[in-house]
Amino acid sequence: MENILLLGGGGRECTLAWKITQSSLCNSLFIAPGNAGTPAYGTNLSIGVNDFAGIKAACLQHNISMLVVGPEDPLVAGVRDFFEADDQLKHIKVVGPGKEGAQLEGSKAFSKKFMERHNIPTAAYKEFTRDNFEDGLTYIASATPPFVLKADGLAAGKGVIITSDVKEAQDAFRSMIMDAQFGKAGDKVVIEQFLDGIELSVFALTDGEHYVLLPEAKDYKRVGEGDTGLNTGGMGAISPVPFADKVFMDKVVSRIVEPTVKGLKAEGIPYKGFIFFGLIKVNSEPMVIEYNSRMGDPETEVVIPRLKNDIVDLFIKMHQGRLNEVTIEHDTRAAGTVMLVAGGYPGDYRKGDVMTGFENVSGSMLLHAGTTTKDGNTVTNGGRVLAITSMGNNIKEALAVSFKNAALIDYAGKYYRKDIGWEF
Ligand code: AMP
Ligand code: GLY
Repeated sequence: MENILLLGGGGRECTLAWKITQSSLCNSLFIAPGNAGTPAYGTNLSIGVNDFAGIKAACLQHNISMLVVGPEDPLVAGVRDFFEADDQLKHIKVVGPGKEGAQLEGSKAFSKKFMERHNIPTAAYKEFTRDNFEDGLTYIASATPPFVLKADGLAAGKGVIITSDVKEAQDAFRSMIMDAQFGKAGDKVVIEQFLDGIELSVFALTDGEHYVLLPEAKDYKRVGEGDTGLNTGGMGAISPVPFADKVFMDKVVSRIVEPTVKGLKAEGIPYKGFIFFGLIKVNSEPMVIEYNSRMGDPETEVVIPRLKNDIVDLFIKMHQGRLNEVTIEHDTRAAGTVMLVAGGYPGDYRKGDVMTGFENVSGSMLLHAGTTTKDGNTVTNGGRVLAITSMGNNIKEALAVSFKNAALIDYAGKYYRKDIGWEF
């Protein structure tokens, strides 16, 4: 029986908490820091995800045997390495790669070179720093638009700029490298070929040798209906993805998933955790847009409800290097999630607005994201506030229930996209 500490406080972690407590292998669950939804499943601890000393103290106090890392920051900062190097923590099963493996997400330049070494299909690219800044300007002037510029490091989903205007691209390039617009994350910039296609997210859990594939998903990144406006963390998600048929998924596995897992092993990079493949279908061929070293948010809110396996059992088998013994079972129904966000998001947004109407909801899971409890009320506390997930015979049916319930929750400045899943 495991005593589990889950790091994070978004919709992804609320979903993982919901799933973990259904396991007969879970003895106790703590969430750090959690949100207003997670106390339904475990005990919130007010510790930040990057506060390794605080996390250690909590592990010792609560006799933790498993650490599940939700977001990328602590992985890239080396939370696994910290646990492995500490005599009091090294017995704890950590779900998430070490610092080196997390570079798949933590450095665009690292991941591009990795894909190059292993012949994994991705956009052609060049990398630039302050040292060859002028070359970068010339490169943009001579390249074919649209230009895709990516800050090398973690930039909370904001480090990608796409524009067809040469001057705008050069200005953005200058702000990243010379004016540190994204801090150190922009010391290096990757400029890559624009890929035109439809995106999807594929998830594997690997023990470094074997892997299992979870249900695939598609998220809706733009804030506005019709996929317009600024990029967000994700305004909704669906699973399964209708165009991800067997022929396509076989290509994803043989050209992308397997070479990635084998490549990590061949390079001596141990990896025990989730790999999120951000893919794009270009003329029926899959290509990698990015890797993440964790689950997606809001993709988790549709992927995990469709996973029938005991997730704690999967984590234990992963730790033991026995994922080859596992068969993943999917719920054949579709899942759709609609994200309620705070007014103003993804720009400056409101916080602290009282939320009402939870009791009117039926037929959906309410997966809290940026919420907290204040004076006995649930109040908004982040850009993405609440994920509403429903299951149905198809995507339209699932989403219809989520939309119905989205209308019943109320708070000042409420916004959500009413067209999630519009293409299906
Ligand atoms: P990333 O942070 O790398 O996932 O990029 C954020 C978003 O920018 C992606 O989800 C895509 O919508 C878009 N994007 C990134 N790279 C490319 C590319 N090479 N071609 C077209 N769109 C891209
Ligand atoms: N939904 C995209 C992400 O989690 O990065």
